Amino acid sequence: MSKVETIYLKDYKKSEFTVKTCDLVFELFEEYAQVTNLMHIIKVDKNSKDLLLNSVDLELIEIYLDDVKLNESRYIIEKEHLRVLDVGDEFKLIIINKIYPQLNSELEGLYKSGSIFCTQNEPEGFRRITPYIDRPDVMAVFRTTLVADRERYPILLSNGNRETNFKLDDKRHGATWFDPHPKPSYLFALVAGDLGVIQDKFVTKSGKYARLYIYTDKGNESKCKHAMKSLKESMKWDEDVYGREYDLDLYNIVAVDSFNMGAMENKGLNIFNSAYVLADEDSATDGNFMAIQSVIAHEYFHNWTGNRITCRDWFQLTLKEGLTVFRDQCFSADLNSKEVKRIEDVRALRERQFVEDGSPTAHPIQPDSYMTINNFYTATVYEKGAEVIRMIYTLLGEEKYRKATDLYFETFDSQAVRTDDFLWAMSKAGGIDLKQFERWYHQSGTPKLQVDEKFEEGKYTLTLTQIIPNAVDGSEQKPYYFPLKMALLDDSGKEIEAKTLTISKESEDFVFKTNLKPILSINRDFSAPIIVEQAENNYAFLMKHDKNSFVRYESAQSFGVATMEALMRGEAIDEAFVKAYGHILGSELDLSFKALLLELPSVTALMQRQEEVDFEPIYEAKEKLEKHLAAAFEDKLLEIYTQNHKPLCKELDAKSMGERSIKNRCLKLLSALKSDKIIETANAQYNDSITMTDRVVALDILENIAPLHAKVSQEHFYKRYKNDTLVMNKYFSLLASSQREGVLERVAALQNDDAYNELVPNLVRSLIGSFSRNYKYFHAKEGLGYKFVVDKIIDIDKINPQMASGLAGAFKIYEKLNSVNKKLMRAELERVVSEPSISKNVYEIVSKIIKIS
Ligand code: BES
Ligand code: ZN
Repeated sequence: MSKVETIYLKDYKKSEFTVKTCDLVFELFEEYAQVTNLMHIIKVDKNSKDLLLNSVDLELIEIYLDDVKLNESRYIIEKEHLRVLDVGDEFKLIIINKIYPQLNSELEGLYKSGSIFCTQNEPEGFRRITPYIDRPDVMAVFRTTLVADRERYPILLSNGNRETNFKLDDKRHGATWFDPHPKPSYLFALVAGDLGVIQDKFVTKSGKYARLYIYTDKGNESKCKHAMKSLKESMKWDEDVYGREYDLDLYNIVAVDSFNMGAMENKGLNIFNSAYVLADEDSATDGNFMAIQSVIAHEYFHNWTGNRITCRDWFQLTLKEGLTVFRDQCFSADLNSKEVKRIEDVRALRERQFVEDGSPTAHPIQPDSYMTINNFYTATVYEKGAEVIRMIYTLLGEEKYRKATDLYFETFDSQAVRTDDFLWAMSKAGGIDLKQFERWYHQSGTPKLQVDEKFEEGKYTLTLTQIIPNAVDGSEQKPYYFPLKMALLDDSGKEIEAKTLTISKESEDFVFKTNLKPILSINRDFSAPIIVEQAENNYAFLMKHDKNSFVRYESAQSFGVATMEALMRGEAIDEAFVKAYGHILGSELDLSFKALLLELPSVTALMQRQEEVDFEPIYEAKEKLEKHLAAAFEDKLLEIYTQNHKPLCKELDAKSMGERSIKNRCLKLLSALKSDKIIETANAQYNDSITMTDRVVALDILENIAPLHAKVSQEHFYKRYKNDTLVMNKYFSLLASSQREGVLERVAALQNDDAYNELVPNLVRSLIGSFSRNYKYFHAKEGLGYKFVVDKIIDIDKINPQMASGLAGAFKIYEKLNSVNKKLMRAELERVVSEPSISKNVYEIVSKIIKIS
């Protein structure tokens, strides 16, 4: 691959034309679809002559300008555009073209998922449907007519409200939909299929009715209840917390099996990956239920933060995504456990975003250039973006933050805006200057905060120094402005002082009057997305005594890290850690929180701290520590297990989920002993439990410590669920994550399994994606893991470039590897970039990783 064009934010120009209305007619057939697109277009820049429409693979039938058919001298079909020459100030343009949804394996634009026609247009899919000014700041009112076979496609949906249904002949029928809200093309959607549905309603706070529908393949209707409940919870929450009401009579959600991402917020017609809709206790884990609740909320919240107010251009993506993730995080925190949710969010941020931030693909939450915007739906834009909004929330406080979001909605409703506009509202209603804070939008990398403490005669001095990494291009970056929640504790854990410091300088002293030497509790609630580096530590104390649950968790993690690093240096296990661990085991705590406190640091967490990643010592240390803890606390762990193991309970309340999470944590730790007793216990759990949560934990343990039992239970599981693709995802991912020998061979063979299908992104992520996160085998010394995944990337790139570039994410760790792995990985990655037909999606990621341009 050569020369890929880079797009820069600084080159942004207003559109020369705008679309007032867009009336679309889709005639859907088994081989192709015909699209008739009638646009009312207005010239904004009177100096422009030609109208340039985005268009990919255009098969044009006819064009009419103000009802006059254009001959070929009046337009040019360019590589990615349709150019209509010399147009007037205001005109009607009709374009008729043909597309092939059945052949669309990229899953962008109009495609087929099984027997369902559906669309995915964010960010630039619409141009694959019909020529259009396909950019988010061009907002039009859409009317959509669908015509299709009545028997195969009884359900015909698009955005907004249904205007008419009609019968054409005895075979075909149609429907027209009208969406009164002007919107960018990326929010356009249609669906046609033979679908089952569940129905409900919601009365908004001003008394308006909204009818709610969730569509799915027939037979799955009963699995939509949790999603429906979550939708109503989301609607209520957005009214209560942000004062935002729903604005259409109808809210449709459609679940499809083939989807590149999680879900999409199309106005009035959300399209979801079925993994984030369908669930019952027999087939979904507690984690799945939680994820459904949060994704449903996320897409619902976009109705205001994304749809009513959208992005001016794709560089502003975090305007809607960062903010909406923050909103869905708060929603889940309010409906479940605040403490647990915060810890889980931070953990996810560190596992994915910190890794990205430390790699050559690091970018600010608002990037200033890209090759493919599809590659920028990243953990940085999303999760770090959400942390940035959270910092604003912390700086302003609840009340002012609400005033500021009110001002944002009032001022920018129905506009396409920039992150600067959002910051303007925050600053104005919040009464603070956010000039320095803006750096969070334009700088990349994770800042470190060095903490130095000094205590002398009634005075405690805290010296905080920001260590700011350089940008990827080597340029220097400046200190940040952020809130830092902290407290000083006395030796009983009581707070002597608790406050939020505002950090803005590169280095600053904070002085506190106190007669006794305090214990520092810092970055409470993870108030800023930074890495704290402390010379002194009081992990054991804070694990026990801090009121702030995040700091308790953090201290347990840091203590775990320190203990494992000592082991890696050949030192003995620190008995103080074992004691602190035992103390948690014996404490009365919320069970889900307790399960988190008992989790040992991940391999990723340890890797990130190494100058040069070396995997083996990490696994060894982890295994050793697990064995030691399991042996030291065997009785206690079994006691907790027995107390909380309720195989016939499938309730989803906090208590039942807490019981499952603590007993499964105990069982997992015990499995380090590989004893007959634990194998029996896991086997019994697989056979007796009625929840998927319990069964996958048992299967996973058996897979790793008891091959013979594993074979039996896996066969049983496969037989029972082979037709349920969402469950098969779990099956493939469990096998691909196995720590047993021969994983690569098994993964390769599983590609031929009847339940596997390379066209379905969920299955590819479960099998190949999980393998690429299985460090032990992905990074195996001979480089066979790299070769396998690279072969798959090259294959899959031909089918679906977005899916392929997602898989390439596993290589982001390249720069940190030891020289042996690095050399092996580089050879494979060079193979990718020298592939002549490689997509720009994959090229962008891989060329940045190995730094060629
Ligand atoms: N707008 C995105 C979906 C999207 C973006 C789909 C680009 C395809 C291409 C949606 O709101 C979103 O962010 N979805 C997330 C899940 C969410 C809970 C973070 C996703 O699909 O991963
Ligand atoms: Zn989103």
